[in-house]
Amino acid sequence: MSKQILINDLDKAGIDTLAGYKAHGGYTAIEKALKMKPEEIVEEVKKSGIRGRGGAGFPMGMKWSFIAKPPGVPRYLVCNADESEPGTFKDRYLMEKKPHILIEGMIISSFALGANTSYVYIRGEMMYVFHILEKAIQEAYDAGYLGKNILGSGYDLDLHVHCGAGAYICGEETGLIESLEGKRGNPRIKPPFPAVVGLYGCPTVVNNVESLANVAWIVNNSGDEYAKIGIGKSTGTKLISASGHINKPGVYEIELGVPVEEFIYSDDYCGGIRNGKKLKAVVAGGSSVPILPAELILKTAKGEPRLMSYESLSEGGFQTGTMLGSGGFIVMDEDTSIVKNLWNFTRFYHHESCGQCSPCREGTGWMEKILHKFLEGRATMADIDLLWDIQGKIEGKTICPLGEAAAWPVAAAIRHFRSEFEEYVKKGKYMTDVKHYYRINKLQEA
Ligand SMILES: Cc1cc2nc3c(=O)[nH]c(=O)nc-3n(C[C@H](O)[C@H](O)[C@H](O)COP(=O)(O)O)c2cc1C
Repeated sequence: MSKQILINDLDKAGIDTLAGYKAHGGYTAIEKALKMKPEEIVEEVKKSGIRGRGGAGFPMGMKWSFIAKPPGVPRYLVCNADESEPGTFKDRYLMEKKPHILIEGMIISSFALGANTSYVYIRGEMMYVFHILEKAIQEAYDAGYLGKNILGSGYDLDLHVHCGAGAYICGEETGLIESLEGKRGNPRIKPPFPAVVGLYGCPTVVNNVESLANVAWIVNNSGDEYAKIGIGKSTGTKLISASGHINKPGVYEIELGVPVEEFIYSDDYCGGIRNGKKLKAVVAGGSSVPILPAELILKTAKGEPRLMSYESLSEGGFQTGTMLGSGGFIVMDEDTSIVKNLWNFTRFYHHESCGQCSPCREGTGWMEKILHKFLEGRATMADIDLLWDIQGKIEGKTICPLGEAAAWPVAAAIRHFRSEFEEYVKKGKYMTDVKHYYRINKLQEA
Protein backbone atom coordinates (compact mmCIF):
# COMPACT_ATOMS: atom_id res chain seq x y z
CA MET A 1 0.00 0.00 0.00
CA SER A 2 1.27 3.46 -0.82
CA LYS A 3 1.33 6.40 1.58
CA GLN A 4 -1.96 7.68 2.96
CA ILE A 5 -2.57 10.97 4.72
CA LEU A 6 -6.34 11.48 4.55
CA ILE A 7 -8.05 8.19 5.33
CA ASN A 8 -5.22 6.30 7.04
CA ASP A 9 -6.92 6.38 10.45
CA LEU A 10 -10.59 5.74 9.70
CA ASP A 11 -10.46 2.61 11.85
CA LYS A 12 -9.75 4.72 14.96
CA ALA A 13 -12.71 4.90 17.31
CA GLY A 14 -14.43 8.29 17.35
CA ILE A 15 -12.41 9.75 14.46
CA ASP A 16 -15.69 11.30 13.24
CA THR A 17 -15.94 13.36 16.44
CA LEU A 18 -13.86 16.34 17.51
CA ALA A 19 -12.48 14.46 20.54
CA GLY A 20 -11.50 11.43 18.45
CA TYR A 21 -10.00 13.56 15.69
CA LYS A 22 -7.98 15.53 18.27
CA ALA A 23 -6.82 12.34 19.98
CA HIS A 24 -5.19 11.32 16.69
CA GLY A 25 -3.40 14.59 15.98
CA GLY A 26 -6.29 16.69 14.69
CA TYR A 27 -6.48 20.47 15.23
CA THR A 28 -2.74 20.78 15.81
CA ALA A 29 -2.18 22.43 12.42
CA ILE A 30 -4.61 25.21 13.28
CA GLU A 31 -2.55 26.26 16.30
CA LYS A 32 0.54 26.38 14.13
CA ALA A 33 -1.25 28.18 11.27
CA LEU A 34 -2.68 30.95 13.44
CA LYS A 35 0.86 31.86 14.49
CA MET A 36 1.98 32.08 10.85
CA LYS A 37 1.41 34.96 8.45
CA PRO A 38 -1.40 34.23 5.96
CA GLU A 39 1.00 34.62 3.03
CA GLU A 40 3.36 32.05 4.60
CA ILE A 41 0.54 29.50 4.52
CA VAL A 42 -0.17 30.33 0.88
CA GLU A 43 3.54 29.82 0.20
CA GLU A 44 3.52 26.36 1.84
CA VAL A 45 0.50 25.34 -0.25
CA LYS A 46 2.31 26.59 -3.37
CA LYS A 47 5.42 24.60 -2.45
CA SER A 48 3.35 21.45 -1.91
CA GLY A 49 2.47 21.48 -5.60
CA ILE A 50 -1.02 20.21 -4.77
CA ARG A 51 -3.48 20.48 -7.65
CA GLY A 52 -7.20 20.93 -7.14
CA ARG A 53 -8.90 17.59 -6.61
CA GLY A 54 -12.30 18.64 -8.02
CA GLY A 55 -11.45 17.70 -11.59
CA ALA A 56 -9.57 20.43 -13.43
CA GLY A 57 -6.33 19.92 -11.48
CA PHE A 58 -5.50 23.63 -11.22
CA PRO A 59 -2.57 24.34 -8.82
CA MET A 60 -4.18 25.24 -5.49
CA GLY A 61 -1.51 27.64 -4.18
CA MET A 62 -1.54 29.56 -7.45
CA LYS A 63 -5.33 29.92 -7.28
CA TRP A 64 -5.05 31.25 -3.74
CA SER A 65 -2.43 33.78 -4.80
CA PHE A 66 -4.84 35.19 -7.42
CA ILE A 67 -7.40 36.31 -4.83
CA ALA A 68 -7.98 40.04 -5.14
CA LYS A 69 -7.60 42.12 -1.97
CA PRO A 70 -9.44 45.42 -2.47
CA PRO A 71 -9.54 47.22 0.88
CA GLY A 72 -12.78 46.97 2.86
CA VAL A 73 -14.23 44.22 0.62
CA PRO A 74 -14.91 40.82 2.22
CA ARG A 75 -13.34 37.66 0.79
CA TYR A 76 -14.92 34.22 0.82
CA LEU A 77 -13.83 30.60 0.78
CA VAL A 78 -16.37 28.16 -0.60
CA CYS A 79 -15.91 24.43 -0.35
CA ASN A 80 -17.33 22.57 -3.33
CA ALA A 81 -19.02 19.51 -1.83
CA ASP A 82 -21.50 19.11 -4.65
CA GLU A 83 -19.79 15.92 -5.85
CA SER A 84 -22.05 15.29 -8.78
CA GLU A 85 -19.72 13.74 -11.35
CA PRO A 86 -20.97 10.21 -12.07
CA GLY A 87 -18.46 7.69 -10.76
CA THR A 88 -17.12 10.00 -8.04
CA PHE A 89 -18.04 9.38 -4.41
CA LYS A 90 -14.90 10.16 -2.42
CA ASP A 91 -15.84 13.56 -0.97
CA ARG A 92 -19.01 12.30 0.71
CA TYR A 93 -17.00 9.39 2.13
CA LEU A 94 -14.37 11.69 3.61
CA MET A 95 -16.95 14.10 5.06
CA GLU A 96 -18.97 11.25 6.51
CA LYS A 97 -16.03 9.46 8.12
CA LYS A 98 -13.78 12.38 9.07
CA PRO A 99 -15.65 15.71 8.89
CA HIS A 100 -13.13 17.57 11.06
CA ILE A 101 -10.30 17.13 8.55
CA LEU A 102 -12.34 19.32 6.19
CA ILE A 103 -13.31 21.80 8.90
CA GLU A 104 -9.73 22.19 10.10
CA GLY A 105 -8.56 22.61 6.49
CA MET A 106 -11.23 25.23 5.89
CA ILE A 107 -10.36 27.24 8.99
CA ILE A 108 -6.68 27.36 8.02
CA SER A 109 -7.48 28.11 4.37
CA SER A 110 -9.95 30.86 5.32
CA PHE A 111 -7.30 32.42 7.55
CA ALA A 112 -4.74 32.25 4.74
CA LEU A 113 -7.16 33.89 2.30
CA GLY A 114 -8.41 36.53 4.73
CA ALA A 115 -11.99 35.24 4.73
CA ASN A 116 -14.19 35.73 7.79
CA THR A 117 -17.20 33.87 6.40
CA SER A 118 -16.93 30.57 4.57
CA TYR A 119 -19.35 28.06 3.13
CA VAL A 120 -19.59 24.38 2.38
CA TYR A 121 -21.94 23.90 -0.59
CA ILE A 122 -23.19 20.33 -0.40
CA ARG A 123 -25.49 18.54 -2.80
CA GLY A 124 -29.04 18.11 -1.57
CA GLU A 125 -29.15 14.33 -1.91
CA MET A 126 -26.39 14.03 0.70
CA MET A 127 -28.65 15.11 3.55
CA TYR A 128 -27.08 12.63 5.96
CA VAL A 129 -23.65 14.18 5.35
CA PHE A 130 -25.15 17.64 5.78
CA HIS A 131 -26.24 16.64 9.30
CA ILE A 132 -22.80 15.16 10.04
CA LEU A 133 -21.16 18.44 8.99
CA GLU A 134 -23.61 20.56 10.99
CA LYS A 135 -22.85 18.52 14.11
CA ALA A 136 -19.09 18.70 13.54
CA ILE A 137 -19.22 22.46 12.94
CA GLN A 138 -21.13 22.95 16.19
CA GLU A 139 -18.44 20.91 17.98
CA ALA A 140 -15.79 23.18 16.46
CA TYR A 141 -17.67 26.31 17.60
CA ASP A 142 -18.00 24.86 21.12
CA ALA A 143 -14.26 24.13 21.24
CA GLY A 144 -13.35 27.67 20.13
CA TYR A 145 -12.07 26.70 16.66
CA LEU A 146 -14.83 28.72 15.00
CA GLY A 147 -16.51 31.98 15.90
CA LYS A 148 -14.91 35.09 17.38
CA ASN A 149 -11.24 35.34 18.34
CA ILE A 150 -10.30 31.75 17.47
CA LEU A 151 -7.84 30.38 20.06
CA GLY A 152 -7.19 33.95 21.22
CA SER A 153 -5.63 34.87 17.88
CA GLY A 154 -7.96 37.76 17.11
CA TYR A 155 -9.14 35.94 13.98
CA ASP A 156 -12.92 35.48 13.48
CA LEU A 157 -14.55 32.91 11.21
CA ASP A 158 -18.11 31.75 10.66
CA LEU A 159 -18.63 28.55 8.69
CA HIS A 160 -21.99 27.64 7.14
CA VAL A 161 -23.20 24.57 5.30
CA HIS A 162 -25.56 25.23 2.41
CA CYS A 163 -27.57 22.51 0.71
CA GLY A 164 -27.98 22.52 -3.05
CA ALA A 165 -30.96 20.84 -4.66
CA GLY A 166 -29.00 18.17 -6.49
CA ALA A 167 -27.99 19.64 -9.84
CA TYR A 168 -24.76 18.69 -11.61
CA ILE A 169 -24.39 22.21 -12.95
CA CYS A 170 -24.14 23.56 -9.38
CA GLY A 171 -20.81 21.69 -9.10
CA GLU A 172 -19.38 24.09 -11.68
CA GLU A 173 -17.91 26.80 -9.49
CA THR A 174 -19.75 29.81 -10.91
CA GLY A 175 -23.06 27.91 -11.11
CA LEU A 176 -22.42 27.01 -7.48
CA ILE A 177 -21.85 30.65 -6.56
CA GLU A 178 -25.09 31.70 -8.29
CA SER A 179 -26.97 28.97 -6.44
CA LEU A 180 -25.41 29.96 -3.13
CA GLU A 181 -26.63 33.50 -3.77
CA GLY A 182 -30.14 32.07 -4.04
CA LYS A 183 -30.41 32.17 -7.82
CA ARG A 184 -30.78 29.55 -10.54
CA GLY A 185 -27.39 27.81 -10.88
CA ASN A 186 -26.45 29.11 -14.31
CA PRO A 187 -22.67 29.32 -14.82
CA ARG A 188 -21.21 32.78 -15.34
CA ILE A 189 -19.07 33.95 -18.22
CA LYS A 190 -15.38 34.10 -17.25
CA PRO A 191 -13.46 36.36 -16.90
CA PRO A 192 -13.95 37.81 -14.38
CA PHE A 193 -12.93 34.74 -12.38
CA PRO A 194 -14.29 34.14 -8.87
CA ALA A 195 -10.94 35.14 -7.37
CA VAL A 196 -11.82 38.69 -8.46
CA VAL A 197 -15.64 38.71 -8.71
CA GLY A 198 -17.11 35.74 -6.88
CA LEU A 199 -19.73 35.30 -4.18
CA TYR A 200 -21.86 38.47 -3.75
CA GLY A 201 -19.46 40.13 -6.21
CA CYS A 202 -16.52 39.69 -3.82
CA PRO A 203 -13.20 37.86 -4.24
CA THR A 204 -13.81 34.15 -3.66
CA VAL A 205 -11.85 30.92 -3.77
CA VAL A 206 -13.77 27.74 -4.57
CA ASN A 207 -11.98 24.53 -3.68
CA ASN A 208 -12.96 20.89 -3.63
CA VAL A 209 -13.44 18.97 -0.34
CA GLU A 210 -10.39 16.77 -0.87
CA SER A 211 -8.20 19.74 -1.83
CA LEU A 212 -9.04 21.53 1.44
CA ALA A 213 -8.72 18.37 3.50
CA ASN A 214 -5.01 18.23 2.61
CA VAL A 215 -4.23 21.67 4.02
CA ALA A 216 -3.81 20.67 7.69
CA TRP A 217 -1.24 18.01 6.72
CA ILE A 218 0.64 20.51 4.56
CA VAL A 219 0.80 23.06 7.42
CA ASN A 220 1.89 20.44 9.94
CA ASN A 221 4.51 18.81 7.75
CA SER A 222 5.43 21.59 5.25
CA GLY A 223 4.82 21.98 1.55
CA ASP A 224 8.23 20.49 0.77
CA GLU A 225 7.34 17.24 2.59
CA TYR A 226 4.03 17.03 0.72
CA ALA A 227 5.83 17.53 -2.59
CA LYS A 228 7.97 14.45 -1.81
CA ILE A 229 4.84 12.28 -1.98
CA GLY A 230 3.66 11.29 -5.44
CA ILE A 231 5.45 11.55 -8.74
CA GLY A 232 6.74 14.57 -10.68
CA LYS A 233 4.18 17.35 -10.85
CA SER A 234 1.51 14.99 -9.51
CA THR A 235 2.34 15.53 -5.87
CA GLY A 236 0.57 14.02 -2.89
CA THR A 237 -2.07 11.37 -2.59
CA LYS A 238 -5.41 11.10 -4.37
CA LEU A 239 -8.70 9.62 -3.33
CA ILE A 240 -9.97 7.33 -6.06
CA SER A 241 -13.59 6.24 -6.23
CA ALA A 242 -13.33 2.79 -7.79
CA SER A 243 -16.47 1.26 -9.24
CA GLY A 244 -17.69 -1.07 -11.95
CA HIS A 245 -16.76 -4.68 -12.64
CA ILE A 246 -14.04 -5.04 -10.03
CA ASN A 247 -13.81 -7.34 -7.04
CA LYS A 248 -13.32 -4.57 -4.49
CA PRO A 249 -15.16 -1.36 -5.32
CA GLY A 250 -14.66 1.49 -2.87
CA VAL A 251 -12.67 4.61 -2.03
CA TYR A 252 -8.89 4.20 -2.10
CA GLU A 253 -6.25 6.71 -1.17
CA ILE A 254 -3.28 6.18 -3.47
CA GLU A 255 0.06 7.87 -3.71
CA LEU A 256 0.00 9.48 -7.16
CA GLY A 257 2.15 7.40 -9.50
CA VAL A 258 0.83 3.92 -8.71
CA PRO A 259 0.71 1.93 -11.99
CA VAL A 260 -2.84 1.58 -13.33
CA GLU A 261 -2.31 -2.16 -13.72
CA GLU A 262 -1.41 -2.47 -10.04
CA PHE A 263 -4.42 -0.37 -9.06
CA ILE A 264 -6.80 -2.60 -11.00
CA TYR A 265 -5.33 -6.01 -10.21
CA SER A 266 -3.64 -5.74 -6.83
CA ASP A 267 -5.53 -6.95 -3.75
CA ASP A 268 -4.46 -3.72 -2.03
CA TYR A 269 -6.85 -1.90 -4.37
CA CYS A 270 -9.51 -3.12 -6.82
CA GLY A 271 -8.54 -6.81 -6.59
CA GLY A 272 -8.96 -7.58 -10.29
CA ILE A 273 -11.94 -7.96 -12.61
CA ARG A 274 -15.08 -9.58 -11.24
CA ASN A 275 -15.82 -13.22 -12.15
CA GLY A 276 -12.42 -13.63 -13.81
CA LYS A 277 -13.54 -11.63 -16.83
CA LYS A 278 -11.25 -9.64 -19.11
CA LEU A 279 -10.82 -5.88 -18.82
CA LYS A 280 -12.47 -4.04 -21.72
CA ALA A 281 -12.25 -0.34 -20.88
CA VAL A 282 -11.83 2.22 -18.13
CA VAL A 283 -13.23 5.69 -17.55
CA ALA A 284 -10.44 6.91 -15.29
CA GLY A 285 -11.56 10.27 -13.91
CA GLY A 286 -15.35 10.48 -13.73
CA SER A 287 -17.88 10.20 -16.55
CA SER A 288 -16.64 13.33 -18.37
CA VAL A 289 -13.16 12.09 -19.22
CA PRO A 290 -12.41 10.09 -22.37
CA ILE A 291 -12.88 6.33 -22.07
CA LEU A 292 -9.81 4.23 -22.89
CA PRO A 293 -9.69 0.62 -24.06
CA ALA A 294 -7.76 -1.89 -21.91
CA GLU A 295 -4.57 -1.72 -23.95
CA LEU A 296 -4.34 2.09 -23.67
CA ILE A 297 -5.27 2.38 -19.99
CA LEU A 298 -2.63 -0.17 -18.97
CA LYS A 299 0.09 1.18 -21.26
CA THR A 300 0.65 4.45 -23.07
CA ALA A 301 0.91 4.49 -26.86
CA LYS A 302 4.70 4.54 -26.32
CA GLY A 303 4.42 1.18 -24.54
CA GLU A 304 5.25 2.59 -21.11
CA PRO A 305 3.19 1.50 -18.08
CA ARG A 306 0.35 3.99 -17.53
CA LEU A 307 0.47 5.51 -14.04
CA MET A 308 -2.23 7.00 -11.84
CA SER A 309 -0.95 10.56 -12.24
CA TYR A 310 -2.12 13.72 -14.02
CA GLU A 311 0.71 13.50 -16.57
CA SER A 312 0.72 9.80 -17.31
CA LEU A 313 -3.05 9.50 -17.73
CA SER A 314 -3.04 12.41 -20.16
CA GLU A 315 0.01 11.16 -22.07
CA GLY A 316 -0.84 11.07 -25.77
CA GLY A 317 -3.53 13.76 -25.51
CA PHE A 318 -7.06 12.66 -26.27
CA GLN A 319 -5.90 10.50 -29.19
CA THR A 320 -4.48 7.84 -26.89
CA GLY A 321 -4.81 9.31 -23.38
CA THR A 322 -7.37 10.60 -20.93
CA MET A 323 -7.46 12.58 -17.64
CA LEU A 324 -7.24 11.93 -13.90
CA GLY A 325 -10.21 14.30 -13.42
CA SER A 326 -11.93 13.83 -10.09
CA GLY A 327 -10.65 10.26 -9.72
CA GLY A 328 -13.91 8.47 -10.54
CA PHE A 329 -12.41 5.22 -11.82
CA ILE A 330 -15.08 3.17 -13.62
CA VAL A 331 -13.94 -0.28 -14.76
CA MET A 332 -15.77 -2.17 -17.52
CA ASP A 333 -15.40 -5.86 -18.29
CA GLU A 334 -15.56 -7.63 -21.65
CA ASP A 335 -19.37 -7.95 -21.51
CA THR A 336 -19.98 -4.19 -21.27
CA SER A 337 -21.74 -2.38 -24.09
CA ILE A 338 -19.82 0.82 -24.73
CA VAL A 339 -22.74 2.22 -26.73
CA LYS A 340 -25.25 1.57 -23.99
CA ASN A 341 -22.92 3.03 -21.37
CA LEU A 342 -22.44 6.10 -23.52
CA TRP A 343 -26.19 6.50 -23.97
CA ASN A 344 -26.54 6.42 -20.19
CA PHE A 345 -23.85 9.09 -19.68
CA THR A 346 -25.31 11.25 -22.44
CA ARG A 347 -28.80 10.92 -20.98
CA PHE A 348 -27.32 12.33 -17.76
CA TYR A 349 -25.67 15.30 -19.48
CA HIS A 350 -28.85 16.08 -21.39
CA HIS A 351 -30.84 16.03 -18.15
CA GLU A 352 -28.27 18.18 -16.34
CA SER A 353 -27.58 20.80 -19.02
CA CYS A 354 -28.70 24.14 -17.62
CA GLY A 355 -29.92 25.19 -21.07
CA GLN A 356 -28.11 28.53 -21.24
CA CYS A 357 -25.99 27.64 -24.28
CA SER A 358 -27.70 26.28 -27.40
CA PRO A 359 -24.90 23.84 -28.41
CA CYS A 360 -25.14 22.08 -25.04
CA ARG A 361 -28.90 22.37 -24.55
CA GLU A 362 -29.74 21.09 -28.04
CA GLY A 363 -26.66 18.95 -28.70
CA THR A 364 -26.87 16.78 -25.59
CA GLY A 365 -30.51 15.90 -26.29
CA TRP A 366 -29.79 15.24 -29.95
CA MET A 367 -26.88 12.93 -29.08
CA GLU A 368 -29.03 11.07 -26.56
CA LYS A 369 -31.71 10.47 -29.19
CA ILE A 370 -29.19 9.24 -31.76
CA LEU A 371 -27.58 6.88 -29.25
CA HIS A 372 -31.00 5.54 -28.41
CA LYS A 373 -31.46 4.75 -32.12
CA PHE A 374 -28.36 2.53 -31.93
CA LEU A 375 -29.76 0.62 -28.98
CA GLU A 376 -33.06 0.14 -30.73
CA GLY A 377 -31.41 -0.98 -33.94
CA ARG A 378 -32.68 2.02 -35.91
CA ALA A 379 -29.32 3.73 -36.49
CA THR A 380 -27.46 3.95 -39.78
CA MET A 381 -23.72 4.26 -40.44
CA ALA A 382 -24.28 7.95 -41.13
CA ASP A 383 -25.43 8.37 -37.52
CA ILE A 384 -21.89 7.59 -36.30
CA ASP A 385 -20.57 10.52 -38.31
CA LEU A 386 -23.48 12.67 -37.21
CA LEU A 387 -22.67 11.97 -33.55
CA TRP A 388 -19.04 12.84 -34.21
CA ASP A 389 -20.09 16.06 -35.89
CA ILE A 390 -22.44 17.11 -33.07
CA GLN A 391 -19.95 16.51 -30.28
CA GLY A 392 -17.41 18.60 -32.19
CA LYS A 393 -19.91 21.44 -32.39
CA ILE A 394 -20.46 21.41 -28.60
CA GLU A 395 -16.84 21.22 -27.45
CA GLY A 396 -15.39 24.67 -26.72
CA LYS A 397 -18.58 26.49 -27.65
CA THR A 398 -20.30 26.81 -24.28
CA ILE A 399 -20.02 29.10 -21.25
CA CYS A 400 -18.97 26.27 -18.92
CA PRO A 401 -17.22 22.95 -19.45
CA LEU A 402 -20.41 20.87 -19.15
CA GLY A 403 -20.33 21.03 -22.93
CA GLU A 404 -16.92 19.35 -22.99
CA ALA A 405 -18.03 16.91 -20.30
CA ALA A 406 -20.80 15.75 -22.64
CA ALA A 407 -18.76 15.86 -25.85
CA TRP A 408 -15.55 14.10 -24.77
CA PRO A 409 -17.12 10.76 -23.83
CA VAL A 410 -18.89 10.62 -27.22
CA ALA A 411 -15.72 11.44 -29.13
CA ALA A 412 -13.63 8.90 -27.20
CA ALA A 413 -16.20 6.11 -27.56
CA ILE A 414 -16.29 6.60 -31.34
CA ARG A 415 -12.51 7.01 -31.55
CA HIS A 416 -11.75 3.76 -29.73
CA PHE A 417 -14.88 1.64 -30.25
CA ARG A 418 -16.23 2.62 -33.67
CA SER A 419 -16.61 -1.02 -34.65
CA GLU A 420 -19.06 -1.49 -31.79
CA PHE A 421 -21.30 1.27 -33.14
CA GLU A 422 -21.09 -0.38 -36.57
CA GLU A 423 -22.06 -3.68 -35.04
CA TYR A 424 -25.18 -2.10 -33.55
CA VAL A 425 -26.09 -0.80 -37.00
CA LYS A 426 -25.48 -4.16 -38.70
CA LYS A 427 -27.03 -6.45 -36.12
CA GLY A 428 -29.75 -4.11 -34.95
CA LYS A 429 -29.26 -4.95 -31.28
CA TYR A 430 -32.23 -4.20 -29.16
CA MET A 431 -32.08 -3.33 -25.46
CA THR A 432 -35.34 -4.03 -23.73
CA ASP A 433 -34.47 -2.13 -20.58
CA VAL A 434 -33.93 1.02 -22.65
CA LYS A 435 -37.40 0.60 -24.12
CA HIS A 436 -38.72 0.14 -20.62
CA TYR A 437 -37.16 3.42 -19.50
CA TYR A 438 -38.79 5.29 -22.35
CA ARG A 439 -42.12 3.61 -21.73
CA ILE A 440 -42.07 4.72 -18.11
CA ASN A 441 -41.23 8.27 -19.16
CA LYS A 442 -44.07 8.26 -21.68
CA LEU A 443 -46.45 7.07 -19.02
CA GLN A 444 -45.28 9.84 -16.73
CA GLU A 445 -45.78 12.41 -19.47
CA ALA A 446 -49.33 11.16 -20.22
C1 LIG B 1 -20.37 20.66 -14.89
C2 LIG B 1 -19.32 20.70 -13.83
C3 LIG B 1 -19.51 20.06 -12.62
C4 LIG B 1 -18.55 20.13 -11.62
N1 LIG B 1 -18.77 19.47 -10.45
C5 LIG B 1 -17.85 19.56 -9.46
C6 LIG B 1 -18.10 18.94 -8.20
O1 LIG B 1 -19.13 18.29 -8.00
N2 LIG B 1 -17.14 19.07 -7.23
C7 LIG B 1 -15.99 19.79 -7.44
O2 LIG B 1 -15.18 19.90 -6.53
N3 LIG B 1 -15.73 20.37 -8.62
C8 LIG B 1 -16.64 20.29 -9.63
N4 LIG B 1 -16.40 20.93 -10.80
C9 LIG B 1 -15.15 21.74 -10.92
C10 LIG B 1 -15.36 23.13 -10.32
O3 LIG B 1 -15.88 24.00 -11.32
C11 LIG B 1 -14.08 23.74 -9.79
O4 LIG B 1 -13.09 23.64 -10.77
C12 LIG B 1 -13.56 23.06 -8.52
O5 LIG B 1 -14.53 23.06 -7.51
C13 LIG B 1 -12.34 23.81 -8.01
O6 LIG B 1 -11.81 23.16 -6.89
P1 LIG B 1 -10.35 22.56 -6.91
O7 LIG B 1 -9.46 23.58 -7.57
O8 LIG B 1 -10.01 22.35 -5.48
O9 LIG B 1 -10.40 21.30 -7.70
C14 LIG B 1 -17.34 20.85 -11.83
C15 LIG B 1 -17.13 21.48 -13.07
C16 LIG B 1 -18.10 21.39 -14.05
C17 LIG B 1 -17.83 22.06 -15.35
